[in-house]
Amino acid sequence: MTVHASLRHDSALKHVTGQAIYIDDMPEPPGTLHAALVLSPIASGRLRRIDLSKAAAAPGVVATFTAADIPGHNNIAGPGKDEPLFAHDRVEFIGQAVALVVAGTLDQARAAAELAQLDIEPGEEILDIETALARKAYVQAPSTILRGDPDAAMKSAPHRLSAAFSVGGQEHFYLEGQIAFALPGEDGDLVVHSSTQHPTEVQHVCAEILGCAFNRVTIVVRRLGGGFGGKESNASAIAGAAALAAARTGRPVKLRLPREIDMIATGKRHGFQYRYEVGFDGEGRVLALDAVLAADAGWSLDMTPGVIARALTHVDNAYWLPHVRAVGYACRTNLQSNTAFRGFGGPQGVLVMEDALDRIARHLGRDPWDIRVLNFYRDGQDETPYGQKVDENHLARCWAEVKQGGALERRRAEIDAFNRTSPILKRGLGVFPLKFGISFNLPHLNQAGALVHVYTDGSIRLNHGGTEMGQGLFIKVVQVVAEVFKVDIDRIRPSATSTAEVPNTSPTAASTGSDLNGWAAWEAANTIKQRMIAFASEHFASAADDIEFADGTVRIAKPGSNQVMSFGELARLCYQGRVSLSSTGFYKTPKVHWDGAAMRGRPFFYFSFGAAAAEVAVDTLTGENRVLRADLVQDCGASLNPSIDLGQIEGAFVQGQGWLTCEELWWDKHGRLRTVGPSTYKIPGSRDAPPIFNVKLLDNAPSREATIFRSKAVGEPPLLLATAVWTALRNAIEAVGDHKTAVRLDAPATPERVLAAIARLRN
Ligand code: MTE
Ligand code: HPA
Ligand code: MOS
Repeated sequence: MTVHASLRHDSALKHVTGQAIYIDDMPEPPGTLHAALVLSPIASGRLRRIDLSKAAAAPGVVATFTAADIPGHNNIAGPGKDEPLFAHDRVEFIGQAVALVVAGTLDQARAAAELAQLDIEPGEEILDIETALARKAYVQAPSTILRGDPDAAMKSAPHRLSAAFSVGGQEHFYLEGQIAFALPGEDGDLVVHSSTQHPTEVQHVCAEILGCAFNRVTIVVRRLGGGFGGKESNASAIAGAAALAAARTGRPVKLRLPREIDMIATGKRHGFQYRYEVGFDGEGRVLALDAVLAADAGWSLDMTPGVIARALTHVDNAYWLPHVRAVGYACRTNLQSNTAFRGFGGPQGVLVMEDALDRIARHLGRDPWDIRVLNFYRDGQDETPYGQKVDENHLARCWAEVKQGGALERRRAEIDAFNRTSPILKRGLGVFPLKFGISFNLPHLNQAGALVHVYTDGSIRLNHGGTEMGQGLFIKVVQVVAEVFKVDIDRIRPSATSTAEVPNTSPTAASTGSDLNGWAAWEAANTIKQRMIAFASEHFASAADDIEFADGTVRIAKPGSNQVMSFGELARLCYQGRVSLSSTGFYKTPKVHWDGAAMRGRPFFYFSFGAAAAEVAVDTLTGENRVLRADLVQDCGASLNPSIDLGQIEGAFVQGQGWLTCEELWWDKHGRLRTVGPSTYKIPGSRDAPPIFNVKLLDNAPSREATIFRSKAVGEPPLLLATAVWTALRNAIEAVGDHKTAVRLDAPATPERVLAAIARLRN
């Protein structure tokens, strides 16, 4: 079978040899201009005047643009929303785009942008979650998930605990920065090459800015050098600015952000603050949870509502919570507008119960693993707080595999023995069970289209609405089409995503890329295949059932003699017989529905499960720490491509590890981000990956729902497995106090924070 095979990424060789073409590698037509943004240096204020006269007079400058030059709407956030492409009357954060300078070379554009003079009357600013909460400054009204009677259940619970902690945001650090290249055509038509996860939104935003119909703008995306959620909405402004400049100058315009500007201007993962109270019985069974999750939304709405909803629908994680209230606040600050980032609020949501269960275990003097298992959802019986049944529950299986494969019982004994004789270095073991909901939590986004052509030489061209950002979506969808026609994958050419080929698409996000586009492509290919069968059956006067596609050929079984021809030969015959060999395909996810106001429904087609164990070592004199080993099991259903999925799991885990340990965003007291490059913002390197790194797909776990070839999504869920590293760090720190006291450990658990936690424990 072509599906379920470990085939390499279709661009693997090009990636590793530097031959894959990213937008900045494309040949530039003569006359190409380069653009640079002018950014606000003030976090909040009234924009009195923009003086671009010096910039306009600088060498090589061809044009400058402000809000006043926008022929359509100065809006990049969709109808009814309020995110201007260029600030006009107010600025809302340091890094907000105010103007664009376009010049003959990139250096000229960037030098000229520095000459812009902005007259801003500084206003009051909010730079942190506490202040926003105190002033009730929100980008949307608070939302609540409620089940049962948490107040009464809390009151009558034999034990109660409360705690507070926080987690920071995260920079996407895609290797290819935000970029767009806009090429004007005839009659105002425009083609924009954009590094975006959401070509259709980019199309809409460009048209909205230019004041033209959507059919005038075509967005093309061959590949992204990483997106991780950072190019789901944030690519639109970049493309919109390039489109404006190209339309106004009539010349090709490229806008590429240098790393520092990219980090200052674009949104990140939402940092969160948590407060909660948990009620439980003497066994450690949770009876009630009352939690507040306050997210730093930044200055505008962006996708914060969806992120809050996903955080609230993941507070339960793997655990049955009979009575629960979880309130999500979307705090408005004068900082970058935070956005999608792998996990989309899910990683932030699950931290609450992991903190609570560790504290419950300490309180009762019980094993933190046993307490987790005790609270697991029961398969097919329990419902989540938002009313979705937890079906096909693989928690116990995943956990059993990690416990056994990771030899956890033995290693914990070893670690305890080590800690007894090691006063300075302490080791810790952390575990984490995972349940992650798959589907966009906005039901209408769960749709996809594809377009397949079969040519008369038997070669196949494949297009669909999903974008390739390194995750291996293209090879997976190629595998699906190869499986339908029973041809070799070399026969199939995946092509750049384009709004002109498949329109009205959803972003490639929420891990749904292969679920949605896989089915859409299957539908398109199968439509053509059925036409070929119908034609062959008539042409060869044979029953449709007797026509078999296999190994790149088509066999027509006839009494006495079988006829065999190549796939291409049948394609040619079909053409002669005037049969269409081109088809669209469409898919919409069944069963999902969601009432966003009541926060109830079935937002997810299915859940994906997993489990992780991580071992860390902490130097109690410096707070420095390392991950020594990780054992992961991830449910990918019947994986479409196990080697791609293993890569996704490893990458996601290390990215999650970075979020929870070393990646620290730091703003100064004026709200200026000071961690704007790899020297100050530390992403994990190859040597931070666990030296012992055992990653397994859960076997024999085909999805019970009708997913494409019974596979499951993989893009985001394994990022959450890195929670085990955070748990392990607390476990190691608590060894300083012989595991009698629970510690607060805010994330990212940098050496400073680890050291501070140790100091608190010692005092
Ligand atoms: N893998 C790579 N190499 N690069 C990326 O940008 N993005 C992640 C994940 N894996 C990403 C990645 C995110 S945030 C999502 S939602 C999914 O891929 C999107 O792709 P999929 O739905 O096809 O899995
Ligand atoms: N994930 C990513 N993007 C989204 C989602 C989601 O769940 N919902 C709406 N946009
Ligand atoms: Mo992924 S955060 O849904 O792009």
